[in-house]
Amino acid sequence: MDLMSHRAAGWSIRLRLKSDNSRIENLFRDCLTAFTWRGQETEEIIRLRHALSVSDCLIAQEKQAGLVGFLVLERPKAYVSHLFVDADWRLCGVGSGLLAVARDLARAPLSLDVDVQNDFAMRAYKAMGWVEKVGTNPTRPEQKRLTGP
Ligand SMILES: CC(C)(COP(=O)(O)OP(=O)(O)OC[C@H]1O[C@@H](n2cnc3c(N)ncnc32)[C@H](O)[C@@H]1OP(=O)(O)O)[C@@H](O)C(=O)NCCC(=O)NCCS
Repeated sequence: MDLMSHRAAGWSIRLRLKSDNSRIENLFRDCLTAFTWRGQETEEIIRLRHALSVSDCLIAQEKQAGLVGFLVLERPKAYVSHLFVDADWRLCGVGSGLLAVARDLARAPLSLDVDVQNDFAMRAYKAMGWVEKVGTNPTRPEQKRLTGP
């Protein structure tokens, strides 16, 4: 069942099925190539697999392109551990669509951590009205905690 759809852009959002997992990993691997500051890809994949096994996951898809984005939500904490949109599908509303559906599911303002080097994502969050939370987690100085509207 679609939870949101964007007629003009052609994408829709639904809950993940197990059969989506390999496409989610492929999209994640593609996006990670731009995260040159991050460590081993294998560790990131292990973290993603764990997150998928314990959290809710939304996927955005388009008929021709297939999977174009995904978001992993720790619903009780309203915390987004992963949000990735295919590079060819950015600036088409997919990221904000995934966050809007996650916000509805969590029934609370969302939070997430963004790498300090990730200027591109930071600009996107600022455009969407996210703000930096005061007293960022001192155990993870390499990231900033943001909260959504
Ligand atoms: C960050 C990311 C999820 C944003 O997704 P997206 O689908 O491109 O975002 P949207 O198209 O929904 O854009 C939402 C708003 O942000 C703006 N925006 C998006 N990226 C932007 C950027 N780099 N600079 C300035 N504004 C930006 C859009 O113009 C839009 O503003 P509007 O509502 O005023 O029109 C996407 O760029 C991405 O996957 N990046 C790589 C992975 C990543 O860094 N993930 C975040 C980990 S914390």
